[in-house]
Amino acid sequence: MRQIMYPSFSARPAWAEINLDHIAHNLRQFRQQIGPATKIMAVVKADGYGHGAVKVAETAMRSGASSLAVAFVEEAIALRRAGLDAPILLFGYTDPAQFPILVHYKLTPTVFGFDTALEYSEFAVDHDTVLPLHLKIDTGMGRIGLLPDEAVEVIVRISRLPGLKIEGIYTHLAAAEENDLTYTREQLMLFNRIIDSCTYKGVTFPLVHAANSAAAINHPSARYNLVRLGIAMYGCYPAPNLQGKGIDLIPALTFKSKVVLVKEVPVGSAISYGCTFRTTKDTLVATVPVGYADGFSRLLSNKGHVLIRGCRAPVIGIVCMDQLMIDVSHIPGVRLNDEVVIYGRQSGGHVSIEEAADQVGTINYELLCALDKRIPRYYFEEGKFSSVCDIIKDRIISINS
Ligand SMILES: Cc1ncc(COP(=O)(O)O)c(C=O)c1O
Repeated sequence: MRQIMYPSFSARPAWAEINLDHIAHNLRQFRQQIGPATKIMAVVKADGYGHGAVKVAETAMRSGASSLAVAFVEEAIALRRAGLDAPILLFGYTDPAQFPILVHYKLTPTVFGFDTALEYSEFAVDHDTVLPLHLKIDTGMGRIGLLPDEAVEVIVRISRLPGLKIEGIYTHLAAAEENDLTYTREQLMLFNRIIDSCTYKGVTFPLVHAANSAAAINHPSARYNLVRLGIAMYGCYPAPNLQGKGIDLIPALTFKSKVVLVKEVPVGSAISYGCTFRTTKDTLVATVPVGYADGFSRLLSNKGHVLIRGCRAPVIGIVCMDQLMIDVSHIPGVRLNDEVVIYGRQSGGHVSIEEAADQVGTINYELLCALDKRIPRYYFEEGKFSSVCDIIKDRIISINS
């Protein structure tokens, strides 16, 4: 990460602006709602849902989070190497071959089987140390975790292993965003029953957690003493029905580009691969240097919209790997270098990532994660540009130096 003057684009004008003040705002919203006693774990896996894990993690730790979570060891190492020293929980499976890395980088694994716990314990004893872990219970997600029938017995056995410190117990909710609360209530009942039985048998847990963003908004009883915030921290609602429930989110990411060509084409002109679009009138077409390799789905061909001069412009023809075309006939004065907003707001106009996700039959999470690394991330803090992460440019600099 280098400090450079904004704007300074890489080879082509296509970039994402990440407003870290919005991430801080979103976390403050939760802090107000959940009160001071419940901790916040900032979920920064998948490179911070495409926003850049390091910058998001730094902001989150300054804005009320007390720990971080990623999916696997390598994601955590990147955070440590960037200087983050907060506790980091690994949500996924950690292979015992990686235990030395856990110790070296002070990472906390999720454990959901006795055999892994035993190997972890033996490793701890061999190295004359005590190692932390969180236990995971599968109360109905059907993904990873101890099953309810075995959980109490296995947890009690794990608790007796030397060299281990059970720092937390958690479960993951499968349907926390739904208006019908029944399934989540059943999951929480199972989870509570397991915790109560463990407590009765003398096993207690400093941290108890179940809530992702949806549950943190929708199910106060799922908050326990820690919530794990992902999508909402980035300013996106986990589902549309969760808007207006007391948490006012602002998206942190705006995806932008610039017009690289404006041309008038006659009626009947074909646009892009396969000639799937033919103009029905003389048309003003603008070319935008963003394509599916950047994360703008090809399924938005002849469907999606972008903003230019605050107006919506339809994508015409097939989205190419690195470029797309829009009809700007209805927008006065469109010129070369005009700013194009692909997801976000511009002069009163708005194209949300949720709208694009709907059009391609997916969710905002997937489109955020799909934003390719070749799109530089420009960070804004305290209302002004602060830094850039531009992997392609960094690569060129390292080749030249
Ligand atoms: C175990 C776990 N907890 C919390 C989260 C965060 O979820 P969300 O982004 O919906 O807040 C995730 C993300 O998938 C997860 O896997």
